[in-house]
Amino acid sequence: MPLTFRCRRLSTHRPFVWAALLALSLWSPSLAQAPSVASTPPMGWNSWNHFAGKIDDATVRAQADAMISSGMRDVGYIYVNIDDTWEAERDSQGIIHANSKFPDMKALADYAHGKGLKLGIYSSPGPKTCAGFAGSYGHEEQDAQTYAAWGIDYLKYDLCSFGKIMGASGSPQAAHKLMIDAYTKMHQALLKTGRPIVFSLCQYGADAVWRWGASVGGNTWRTTGDISDKYSSMTEIGFGQAGLAKFAGPGHWNDPDMLEVGNGGMNLEEYRTHMSLWAMLAAPLLAGNDMSTMKPETVALLTNREVIAIDQDRLGRQANRVRAEGTQEIWARPLADGSKAVGVFNRFDWPQTIEINFRELGFKGSAKVRDIWAAKDLGTMSGNYSAHVPGHGVVLLRVSE
Ligand code: GLA
Repeated sequence: MPLTFRCRRLSTHRPFVWAALLALSLWSPSLAQAPSVASTPPMGWNSWNHFAGKIDDATVRAQADAMISSGMRDVGYIYVNIDDTWEAERDSQGIIHANSKFPDMKALADYAHGKGLKLGIYSSPGPKTCAGFAGSYGHEEQDAQTYAAWGIDYLKYDLCSFGKIMGASGSPQAAHKLMIDAYTKMHQALLKTGRPIVFSLCQYGADAVWRWGASVGGNTWRTTGDISDKYSSMTEIGFGQAGLAKFAGPGHWNDPDMLEVGNGGMNLEEYRTHMSLWAMLAAPLLAGNDMSTMKPETVALLTNREVIAIDQDRLGRQANRVRAEGTQEIWARPLADGSKAVGVFNRFDWPQTIEINFRELGFKGSAKVRDIWAAKDLGTMSGNYSAHVPGHGVVLLRVSE
C-alpha cells in the first residue's frame, strides 16, 4: 500500500522516475544483501551444544517458544539455528530433503517467522557433514535455493569432510585455494537467492580465517575448535582471541563459538566470565543451552541488557587485551558513546584484588565508573581502581571521561 502511494506521487516527477528505474535496473541481490545482515554480531540459539544429534522439529519449536517466554527475544536473540543431523539423502534431481525429524522445514521457518524469529540451518562444503550427513559438495546452488525456498535466514557452513579433499590436493597452497573457492561458491549461491542469509564460516580458524573470511562473504567465522562446557575450554578459547580485534567489524565478526551458559559444567562466576568475555569480544551470542528449562540465574546472565549492549555496540570494535599478568587480565573496547567497556578477569581459583589504572585505559587520570553486573554507579574516581574479583570471575565496568 505505501509503495503504491509513493509510485503515484512519483509519476508527477518524471526525471525522478527515470532515475529510480535506472537505479532499479542496476540493483542486484549482491548489492542488496551486504549491509542488511549482521551489522551487529548475530544473536540467537543453536542446537548443537546441548542437543547435538537429538534435535527435531518439536524441540526447535519448543526452543522458539522459550526464547520468547524467557524474554530472550526481547533483548535481541532472534536466530533459532538447527545444527547438524537434520539432513536426509538427495532425491533423483539432487535436491536435499530434511530427514524424518523435520517433516516440514518450510512450516518450521513459518512458525519461527510468525513469532518474530529467524531460522538457521547447517551444511558443509564437503560431501559429508561432521556427523556424517549429506553435505553440499557439488550441490551448492541447489542447496542455497532450497534453503531460500524454505525461508532460511542463517547458514553455518562447516568444513568437515572438505578437509579430506583439501588434503588430497598436494600442497598447502592448493588446499587453501580449494577452501577459498568452496566458501566463495556458497557465498555466491546465497547471494543469487536474493534472500538475506547470514553466512557463518566454520573451519576452526584454519589458515588465519580472520584475514580472509570477509573476502569470501563470511559474516562470521569460527576462530577456534569446538568449545565444551568447561572453564578450561571456555577460557582457552576466549582469552586466546587476543590480537584478533582488528579483523572484526560490522557485517564480519570473529566467532569464538557458541555459548555454554546454562549447560551445567561451569559455576555462576565462570558463566559470568563466559558471557562478559563474549560481549567484550563482539562475538555472536548464540545460546547453546535448553532454553525451556532455564534457572532464573541463567536467564539473568543471558538477558542482562547492559552486557548485551556492549556486545551489540554499533561501533563494532572488539576488545583488545590491555594487560595480562599471570592469572589477571584486563580487556577494553571503545563504545559508540565515547565510553569504554572494561573487563577485569581473574583466572585464579581464589578471589583476587586487581588494580586498574585509568591512564592505562586511555583516560586522563580520572573517570566515571559503572559496575555492570552489580548495576551500580561507583562514582568518579582518579588514578586507580581496585576491583575485587571472585575466583574464575570478572568485574565488568563501563568507564567514561
Ligand atoms: C563441528 C562444529 C560444531 C558442530 C559439529 C556438528 O564439530 O565445529 O560446532 O557444528 O561439527 O557435527
